[in-house]
Amino acid sequence: MRKMLTIADLKDLARRRVPTMFFDYADSGAWTESTYRANEEDFARIKLRQRVLVDMTDRSLESRMIGEKVSMPVALAPTGLTGMQHADGEMLAAQAAEAFGVPFTLSTMSICSIEDVSSVTTKPFWFQLYVMRDRDFVGNLIDRAKAANCSALVLTADLQILGQRHKDVRNGLSAPPKLTLPNLVNMALRPRWCLGMLGTSRRTFRNIVGHAKGVGHLSSLSSWTAEQFDPKLSWDDVAWIKERWGGKLVIKGILDEEDAHMAAATGADAIIVSNHGGRQLDGALSSIAMLPRIVDAVGDKIEIHVDGGIRSGQDVLKAIALGAKGTYIGRPFLYGLGAMGKDGVTTALEIIRKELDITMALCGKRNIADVDGSVLAQV
Ligand code: FNR
Repeated sequence: MRKMLTIADLKDLARRRVPTMFFDYADSGAWTESTYRANEEDFARIKLRQRVLVDMTDRSLESRMIGEKVSMPVALAPTGLTGMQHADGEMLAAQAAEAFGVPFTLSTMSICSIEDVSSVTTKPFWFQLYVMRDRDFVGNLIDRAKAANCSALVLTADLQILGQRHKDVRNGLSAPPKLTLPNLVNMALRPRWCLGMLGTSRRTFRNIVGHAKGVGHLSSLSSWTAEQFDPKLSWDDVAWIKERWGGKLVIKGILDEEDAHMAAATGADAIIVSNHGGRQLDGALSSIAMLPRIVDAVGDKIEIHVDGGIRSGQDVLKAIALGAKGTYIGRPFLYGLGAMGKDGVTTALEIIRKELDITMALCGKRNIADVDGSVLAQV
């Protein structure tokens, strides 16, 4: 097997190992995918400042995100259907993150449940909340996250209405996949994935099925989302969510200065500057383009994190230089998971850590805490 040196290497391998429907689910953005592309392209436009003859011994990437110690300022973003990239995907990714010393965020739309992940980890993970019309169910999800000792609730604010991703519509995305002839042929060409799925009982949305009222079966993500997600969700709802939860709260999906002010006023612990990886509003600006504007607006009021388009440790360094206290990767760890299971998630994190460490050193910094705008070149 080719040596995995970059996130792109993991992506190539995942494409060969994961059924097309689920690989495409990860590798897609809304409509024309212009925001999905911009997230990555805008990172490439930012240039670094080379510095020389600075003592580079004893470097450190250790940092804190919402007060939690992290071995580098990179968390795993919440991603739906992760257990379809690889059997038991959320459990494996959480274990890899825990061993690496970075936060894992479990999505509401995960295949493995809060309880499944909690049963295979020893340290607290984070839970991402989507708000449904059935508020009893939402309250119950919050209580389950509390019972599992989750140390942060990440409230996603940018998906009351699902942005259309054409690939998912064309592929008839469902979990588990419908056993049509094309799907069976596609899966048969990926025997490793099939064997994994046959060896697990976790093939549907276990946070939801059996918990939400009247949901005995849930296969189509888009139709369930359209029926259940609450389009009425507003800033007023944040207060009861915050109170019911009672712990650290992060608001995800902020891409505008005015919304950043509103989020800071809720008393949340952090915001994530995010456009959902380009999967929601196609035509929105990239996260990294908006980051400095949001840091200017509320950087003195609330901790700021960012996600979207991070594919290397260089990108992490650029985000930190532009004022983020923490970053998240979505697709990079999914590609690792699809390519090589838990080892692949660890490999993705190792690739990013190595790139971050080397880049920081070549920019003349020994400690991530000292990284600021001075590492960026004026172009
Ligand atoms: C996501 N994202 C996401 N966000 C969220 O709050 N809840 C979710 O269930 C999901 N599901 C999901 C599935 C997949 C396949 C992807 C790729 C993304 C968005 C995710 O948390 C994050 O914002 C982006 O993935 C960041 O962009 P990159 O790192 O993937 O470029």
